[in-house]
Amino acid sequence: MSSYGEYNSRSLFSPPAATQAGVYSALLGRGAEKDAYQTELIVAEELENAVPGVKEAAGEGRKFIGRAASTLGKQGLSQFIDLGSGLPRPPYLHEIVRRDQREAAVAYVDYDPRVCRHGWAHLKGEGLAMIHEDIRQIDKVLANADLLGVIDFDKPVAVVLGAICHFLTDEEATRILETLRQILAPGSAAIVTHATTDGATDQEIAAGRAVYTQVSEIHLRTRRQIQDLLSGWDLMEPGVVNPATWFPHDRWAPLEADPEAPLHMYGAVAWLLPSEGQAA
Ligand SMILES: C[S@@+](CC[C@H](N)C(=O)[O-])C[C@H]1O[C@@H](n2cnc3c(N)ncnc32)[C@H](O)[C@@H]1O
Repeated sequence: MSSYGEYNSRSLFSPPAATQAGVYSALLGRGAEKDAYQTELIVAEELENAVPGVKEAAGEGRKFIGRAASTLGKQGLSQFIDLGSGLPRPPYLHEIVRRDQREAAVAYVDYDPRVCRHGWAHLKGEGLAMIHEDIRQIDKVLANADLLGVIDFDKPVAVVLGAICHFLTDEEATRILETLRQILAPGSAAIVTHATTDGATDQEIAAGRAVYTQVSEIHLRTRRQIQDLLSGWDLMEPGVVNPATWFPHDRWAPLEADPEAPLHMYGAVAWLLPSEGQAA
């Protein structure tokens, strides 16, 4: 077979590699899995077997982001940047925040070309942008012309880091959060979900890692380590918690977490603290 033939048969018949976005959609289920490849559905099943409860944790993380964004919208934030937005799935972030802020602008950012193709198809309209960038080049992201077309950095911005910081090294995550602190206006905020080792057995951690290596590196962190990443930010009550228990206090009483339930994920909302040398 010619090298062209070999290339062609591989590209036609090799299953596509699982990506972080596709596996997350497969974990979310409830219709989101329709956008996942077979390889990603298999990885999601293997993960759930290795780390029982991980599917539910992904769903709770997603619901928490909606509640947190809605809370910030009610507090007046009308600009959102969703870093690592994932395969779009309704209700879209802009639909959630526009319930309170009709003119809210949302810039979605992801480095996965498949996410961006879906985004360009589904996230169109006034005040919306889908940007294909790697957030490890955060300066480039923040200078992107399409992003600047919808986001005004003189006004507060809510940055969403949903299930993405665990794909970053400590150095990368710290640098990104510090750059955001430098550029964002007072009154800005961050919404974070992050996979954790807390509550998992050593066996689950090892088995989960072994499965996820098929997709990418992952940097699971403890609650303390996630708090440390957010050290330049003012954590909103109740802090870094099980996302299923995070509710705005003015609207619902916070739920007690089931201490027996597996955790797998933390969620937090934090206000920007001025960087040293910056006026508050
Ligand atoms: C697990 S999904 C989470 C999706 C969504 N934020 C949520 O919480 O439902 C993580 C997303 O981050 C994206 N991602 C990971 N590292 C990234 C990077 N360095 N730059 C941009 N996107 C990244 C992946 O492509 C994927 O779509």
